[in-house]
Amino acid sequence: STQLLAPTPPMGYNNWARYECNLDEKLFTDTADWMVAHGLLAAGYDTITVDDCWMTMDRDPVTKALVVNTTLFPQGMGWLGQYFHRRGFKFGIYEDAGEKTCGGYPGSLGHFDQDIAQFVAWEVDYIKLDGCYIYRNESLPESETLEPTFRQLYEGFGEALRAQPRPIVYSESAPAYFAGLSAGTGDRVGRDWYKVMTWVGRFGQLWRHSTDIAVYKKDGQSRWPSVMTNYRFNIRLARFQKPGNWNDPDFIITGDDVGLTIEEQKSQFALWTIMASPLILSTNVKDLTFEQIAFLTNKEIIGINQDPVGIQGRIAWRTELSDVLVKPLQDPTVRAAAVLNKQHSVANVTVSFARLGYTFPLSSQGCQYLVRELFSQSEETLTVYNPRNETITSLLRPHATALFKITSMSNSA
Ligand code: GLA
Repeated sequence: STQLLAPTPPMGYNNWARYECNLDEKLFTDTADWMVAHGLLAAGYDTITVDDCWMTMDRDPVTKALVVNTTLFPQGMGWLGQYFHRRGFKFGIYEDAGEKTCGGYPGSLGHFDQDIAQFVAWEVDYIKLDGCYIYRNESLPESETLEPTFRQLYEGFGEALRAQPRPIVYSESAPAYFAGLSAGTGDRVGRDWYKVMTWVGRFGQLWRHSTDIAVYKKDGQSRWPSVMTNYRFNIRLARFQKPGNWNDPDFIITGDDVGLTIEEQKSQFALWTIMASPLILSTNVKDLTFEQIAFLTNKEIIGINQDPVGIQGRIAWRTELSDVLVKPLQDPTVRAAAVLNKQHSVANVTVSFARLGYTFPLSSQGCQYLVRELFSQSEETLTVYNPRNETITSLLRPHATALFKITSMSNSA
C-alpha cells in the first residue's frame, strides 16, 4: 500500500509509566471518556494503547491463541477496541517479539501470524512490540550480539503486518535493547545501537531507543534525571527521523506532581514537541489540572510537534548550563526554538539570532521578527540589524524551558 502510516508523530495514551500492571477495563474506558470530555482527543491524542499484563500467563492449550485476562478485561479486547473506535480513538496493544513479554506473559515468538490475525480481529490499529526474552537464533551466523536476531524478528513481524490489509502502526522497541544503559555505562551507547537504527525505519513507524521513563512512585523521587537521559539519547538520532519514521524517547509524564515540578513537566513537553517526538501520555488523566490540560492541548505547541515536514529539532547551541534547540517548519518564514535551563537554579539565558541560525547579511533597514513564547503566550516584535547582536533573553526557573515561535515579518527569512 502507498498510504504513509504515522505521517506525523503519533499521539495518545499508554498506561505503563503510571500504572504498570495495575490496569483494567475501567481504567481505559474512563481514560477514553475523560480524554473526549476534556479536549485531549480533539487536540490529537487519538491512540490508546494497552501495555503489558493484559493476558493470562499461558496461551490457550488447544488453539495456542493469546488469552485475555477476563478478570481485568471482562468484556474482552474486541469490545474494548470497539469502545475506543466509537469515540474516535485508535486501539493500540502491547506484545513482545521474544518468548515472553517483559512482564513474563506469553511472547509472540513462533506465533507472529496467529497473533497478528487475532489483533486484526480485535481491530487493533497500533502495536508496540517489545524485545524482552529474545535469545540468539542458532541459524544465524555466530555474532557477538543479538543484533541479527533482533533484526530477523522485527523484520519478520513487520512483514507479517504488511501481508494483511489492515493498516497498523508498528512501534519497535528493538533499539532500546542496544542503548547500553546498563549500570555504569553512563551515556555511552551500545556498539550496535546505530546499526539497529539503520533498519528499524524500514519496518516500522516509531521505535523506542532508550531506557524506560522512570515509572510513577509516591516516594517523591525525582523523575527529571530519567527525562534528561531519554532526551540526550533522542537528540543523537535526529537524522533517522522523517514523516512515517519517529524516534520515541518514551512517555510524557505530565501530571506527576511528585516526580516532576510543573516547570519540569512543561520542559519535557516542550522538548518532546520541538524534537517532533511521539506525544504519548502516561498519567492519571483525572488528576490533570487546568494548567496541565491547557499546555497539553495548546494548538500552537501541538502544531509545532505535528508540523508536516516532521523535522526533529536539533541542538543549535549548548553549554553546561543551557541547551538551545531549533526546528524548521513547513512554513519557511517560521521556526521554533526551545531554550532549556539545565541548572538547579534560576537563570537568565540570552541567545543571539545568529545562534538560532539566522545568518542574513547586515541590513540598514533591519529584519522584523515576531517572537512568541508559547507557554506564557507573550510576544514582542524585534527589529534585527545584526543577528549576532540582537538577542532573546529568557528568565528561566530551574529546569524550565521557553518555547518560541519566531516568525519573519520581512520578505526574506
Ligand atoms: C518494557 C518497556 C515498557 C513496558 C514494559 C512492560 O520495560 O520498555 O515500556 O512496556 O516493558 O513490561
